[in-house]
Formats: sequence, structure tokens, C-alpha cells
Amino acid sequence: MEPNLIVITSLCLISGLAAGIAIGIFLKVKRPSIKRGAVVISASTVSGRGAFAAQNIKAEAIIERCPAIEVTDRDIGGELVNYVFYGNVETDRLVVMGYGMLFNHSSTPNVAYYREESSLGPEMILYALRNIRKGEELFYNYGDDWWKTRQ
Ligand SMILES: C[S@@+](CC[C@H](N)C(=O)[O-])C[C@H]1O[C@@H](n2cnc3c(N)ncnc32)[C@H](O)[C@@H]1O
Repeated sequence: MEPNLIVITSLCLISGLAAGIAIGIFLKVKRPSIKRGAVVISASTVSGRGAFAAQNIKAEAIIERCPAIEVTDRDIGGELVNYVFYGNVETDRLVVMGYGMLFNHSSTPNVAYYREESSLGPEMILYALRNIRKGEELFYNYGDDWWKTRQ
């Protein structure tokens, strides 16, 4: 092979590799975080995905108002069991939309929730228990029953 061809081929390979690495870094940094309102979904500090404060949040501020549908426990199976809330009666389950089902558990939570009935159906309102700084992971307490019923 001509010496010039070796240099050109090597330069092409090196620049292709550099471009690949740069694109990989860009996608890794850009892709995993999905922001909506005050919440960004990113890699959790405790498990899989988690919800994080996308901005400073004041104590008692509403973080997210999530539309929900109430179904029976027969409608819920497999991994979905780990994502739903309890409903108004023991056999009911609440599928909470938006980012409401993605918050992880803590026994010292910075978020709590309550249910409201709107004319369009149930809503789960997630609010801050204290001032929360941008970047903190958001946790609510799943409750003792939740952990007792799982291994
Ligand atoms: C509602 S999901 C939370 C989002 C989940 N981390 C994900 O990646 O989709 C509930 C599941 O998250 C995990 N999880 C939540 N809080 C946790 C914690 N404090 N420690 C360990 N795992 C936790 C458990 O596997 C649980 O079944």
C-alpha cells in the first residue's frame, strides 16, 4: 500500500472513531433524562429510574397533578403490580399517569400525595413535604403494607 494511502486510511479510521465516541457521549448524556414541569426522570440513586427535582421546589408546592384511573386488582398483573397505588376499596388499584408512578420509595420522603376527585375522574396530587433543591431525587413513602406484600 502507498504510504499516502496508509496515512489517509488511518486518518479516516481515527476521525470515524472520534465521531463515534462523541456521538455516544452526546446520546448518553442527552437521552436518559426526560423533563416535564418540575420533574425530570433520570437514573435513580436507589433503583432503575427515578424522579428528580428539575428546579427548586418550595415546601407544600404541588409537584405534579396526575390523572388516574381506578381499576380492580384483577386488571393488574406482572411487573405492573409494583407501579400502581391502592384504590378506595381493598381490591381497587389506581393507575397514576404522568410521572406519578415512577417515584421511588423512602422512609424519609420529601414528597407526599393525596387523591382528589375531579369531574373528569380521580387525580393523584404529588406535593413537596419540605423545600427541595434542584437535582434532589424525589421520594414518597410506599407504606409498610407495600413492602410486606413483596419479597
Ligand atoms: C414504582 S417503581 C419506581 C420506579 C422504578 N425505579 C423504575 O425504574 O421503573 C417501584 C419499584 O422501584 C423499586 N424501588 C423503589 N424504591 C426503592 C428503594 N427505596 N429501594 C430499592 N428499590 C426501590 C422497586 O423495585 C419497586 O418495585
